Amino acid sequence: MRKNPSRRAGRLGLRGGVGRGGGATTFVPVPLEWQGTTRQVAGLFPWGVPGRLPAIGVPTGRHQLGAGVVCFDPASWFRAGLIANPSVLVLGKPGLGKSTLVDHWGIGLAAMGYRILVPGDTKPDHVEMTRVLGGAVQQVRRSGGAALNPCDPGGMGASAARIGGQAGDTLLHEAIGRGTTAVHSLVQLIRDGSPVLDHERAALAMALRVLYTSGRRAPSLPDVLDVLGQRPDEIRSVVLARGGDDDYDVLLDPLRRSLLALLAGPYGNVFSRPVDRSDIDTPALDIDTSAIKAGDPGYLAAVLICAWSEAYGRVESAQALTAAGLEPRRQHVVILDELWRVLRVGRGTGMADRVNELTRLNRTEGVCQIMVTHGVRDLSTGRDQQVEGIEHRAGALVIGGIPKGEVRALQDVVTLTDAEAGQLVSWSSAPDLDPRTRPPGSGKFLIKHSPTEPGIPVDVMLTPTELAWGGQNSNRAWED
Ligand SMILES: Nc1ncnc2c1ncn2[C@@H]1O[C@H](COP(=O)(O)OP(=O)(O)OP(=O)(O)O)[C@@H](O)[C@H]1O
Ligand SMILES: [Mg+2]
Repeated sequence: MRKNPSRRAGRLGLRGGVGRGGGATTFVPVPLEWQGTTRQVAGLFPWGVPGRLPAIGVPTGRHQLGAGVVCFDPASWFRAGLIANPSVLVLGKPGLGKSTLVDHWGIGLAAMGYRILVPGDTKPDHVEMTRVLGGAVQQVRRSGGAALNPCDPGGMGASAARIGGQAGDTLLHEAIGRGTTAVHSLVQLIRDGSPVLDHERAALAMALRVLYTSGRRAPSLPDVLDVLGQRPDEIRSVVLARGGDDDYDVLLDPLRRSLLALLAGPYGNVFSRPVDRSDIDTPALDIDTSAIKAGDPGYLAAVLICAWSEAYGRVESAQALTAAGLEPRRQHVVILDELWRVLRVGRGTGMADRVNELTRLNRTEGVCQIMVTHGVRDLSTGRDQQVEGIEHRAGALVIGGIPKGEVRALQDVVTLTDAEAGQLVSWSSAPDLDPRTRPPGSGKFLIKHSPTEPGIPVDVMLTPTELAWGGQNSNRAWED
């Protein structure tokens, strides 16, 4: 081995090693420096080379510009502090893979222990996913299908009885409130939008209270009718029926007639029976409302109101049971696909209020929300002021192919670079293809986790298992 020359020389002087190749230098080059704005030197600041994307959340697909695997789901990104709110709004033209992407996240989230709820699967798009996860599918039909009980939202009454004490009472009051709201909306729908009067609402709430306090865990609409018919003192006093039975009947017969119409009329027997909740611990629940055709918006609205009430009642029950130390903690993911349809049929029935309430509270309620619609303009259809702003409140936007007009509307919500806007339009402008082939823009999404930063363009990759089960094939009706 050759010896180090400075060692060989034996010593180090003040100006470096003594000997050949050692000593001082007279010129030290200063590196060149430039200054510029972030826009002028874009790509150099803060780093010239992109960093890796956080490996947090469900592996969703490949980065379109080669930055590796893209992991994303609203729950995990919220937990990691990457988005401010555990919700996502997925936008895109029909047939470009929104529901497929949502199923993909659903499977990943279920594997992480989240319970998946699809309250009102209008197409249905998520039935196969629910089945594959070993979950429960409740198909609602005019007759003989699953029941929806507006008076007993998500088994809250039974959970309240299990919890007992002050906490049980609080949950019971919540059950009565929710039940009253649901029945109120149904009565309004069967009356073709005519309002429910204040004393009628009070009578409904009191009837439910009488039923619950008399020990009924899950009262139903026929029970409410019975109680109203018995003219108990509690209800007499809230409707101020001072003039005896006749006075009472004049005040409450219209409500009883509406309830009878709900039970015996065009809505079949969906709302008259108790709900089977033997599946309460299910990893996924899909309330399949696809058998109700769009041509019957009143009926669909009624079913959706009760289905939402059921799903959120289940969430509240689960949370109250956890707080009481009776059940382990379980987080929920609610999938609201075809949101535009829900908002359209539910106009004037409090549906929009419910969406609003949820998008504001999901962080504190421990509910992650995945909402799907065609574009932000859907959300303000009919200038329904109540629902405006969902796109601003969502923790992230995931945007697929959308037409130019929609891109312009989106510019008010998030900053889209010219390149991003061009990409979104190109994904949407596919030539008319055979419906059995995938359009070129399908499975391509831009994840906007911040309104100002560039988005993450991703090619959604399905696993061989997902492709094999065929659940995502929403074009099946076109196959030979
Ligand atoms: N990443 C993907 N890989 C393979 N196939 C996909 C992918 N994304 C979508 N598809 C296929 O494209 C078709 C349409 O997808 P999907 O039903 O999810 O669209 P959508 O955006 O939800 O449409 P709509 O707005 O009408 O509900 C499905 O048959 C699905 O199998
Ligand atoms: Mg869909």
